[in-house]
Amino acid sequence: MIETKMVKIDKENPELQKIKAAAQIIRDGGLVAFPTETVYGLGANALSETAAAKIYQAKGRPQDNPLIVHIYDIKQLDDIAENIPPKARILMERFWPGPLTIIFKKKSTVPMGTTGGLDTVAVRMPDNKVALALLRESGVPIAAPSANISGRPSPTCAQHVYEDLAGRIDMILDGGPCSVGVESTVIDVSGDIPLILRPGGLTAEQLKSALGDVRLDPGLAPGERPKSPGQKYKHYAPKAKVIVFEGLLENQVSSIKEHADNLTGKGVKVGIMCTDQTRKYYPYNVALSVGDRNRLQTISSNLFSLLRTFDSLGVEVILAESFSSEGLGLAIMNRLRKAAAFNIIKV
Ligand code: TXA
Ligand code: MG
Repeated sequence: MIETKMVKIDKENPELQKIKAAAQIIRDGGLVAFPTETVYGLGANALSETAAAKIYQAKGRPQDNPLIVHIYDIKQLDDIAENIPPKARILMERFWPGPLTIIFKKKSTVPMGTTGGLDTVAVRMPDNKVALALLRESGVPIAAPSANISGRPSPTCAQHVYEDLAGRIDMILDGGPCSVGVESTVIDVSGDIPLILRPGGLTAEQLKSALGDVRLDPGLAPGERPKSPGQKYKHYAPKAKVIVFEGLLENQVSSIKEHADNLTGKGVKVGIMCTDQTRKYYPYNVALSVGDRNRLQTISSNLFSLLRTFDSLGVEVILAESFSSEGLGLAIMNRLRKAAAFNIIKV
């Protein structure tokens, strides 16, 4: 066990002295969790094999699941990647800093311990002042997966990181809640047609507006083999079993009520993940709204946090409403279906 320092930091004007202390830990090969616009990341020096290895150990992460390398300046890209495709230049110019991760051929400076043994490296520039200041002061690119225990819902506030990783990491920079709430979109532009390897905070529609044709990795469908190693693992799962209801909203509501009555009758502790629009239809204690279904940004920023809330209430089965797969809905449904281990009821 190591002592985990929790440091509150101003997200608009990060105090330099706090950033310097965190940067020193990174340079010394330690672990610092920090806020990004998507989720909290667990950071270590991306150029050090031993520092990266500590990330895997703290998270209990499978060795073949590569890390995303974070930078604050496009100039840093030359130190870690080569053969930058023209399409990547277009994306970086338009969407960085922001929730977009791009796959590149890696240079030998990046150890295999950072890329899970791959000869490619995933890179992104986060849109968060604390993250950017930490990157600048550290002077090295920072490898950072989401700062949760592997398989659990990703952390969208410092408290979530503390719950999962206290005693395992050196410091948590608490810069308040994350605005996007789902992880970055991961894209591979090395082939003729750009492929989304993980839907995320930057939408497919935004990518299409910049590049024209963009496709979703067919390997993301249940039972297929995804191109991105991390996508094959069980993920985002609360302790409770999750069932997602898909179909017309009024059918979702009636089917969820039926299942809730049934399970409650058997003594199972049920939680319902509903929306502002439907909360009134559920006469149960643990029916919690994930937000306004017409504002997907609020749904994405609340999703992981609400899954953790159900756990803290001791819920055994979560019955969840679903969303259309447009815009941010694609990432939201990807996370929700995975949290449910593709336990989906079509209504
Ligand atoms: O928003 C985010 O991306 C957050 C914040 C902290 O930046 N990070 C994050 O990291 O979500 P993580 O480790 O939880 O997810 C990384 C994903 C995994 O699905 C992994 O397989 C994929 O990126 N990935 C990383 N390197 C890759 C590579 N070289 N080729 C294909 N996929 C890669
Ligand atoms: Mg993750």
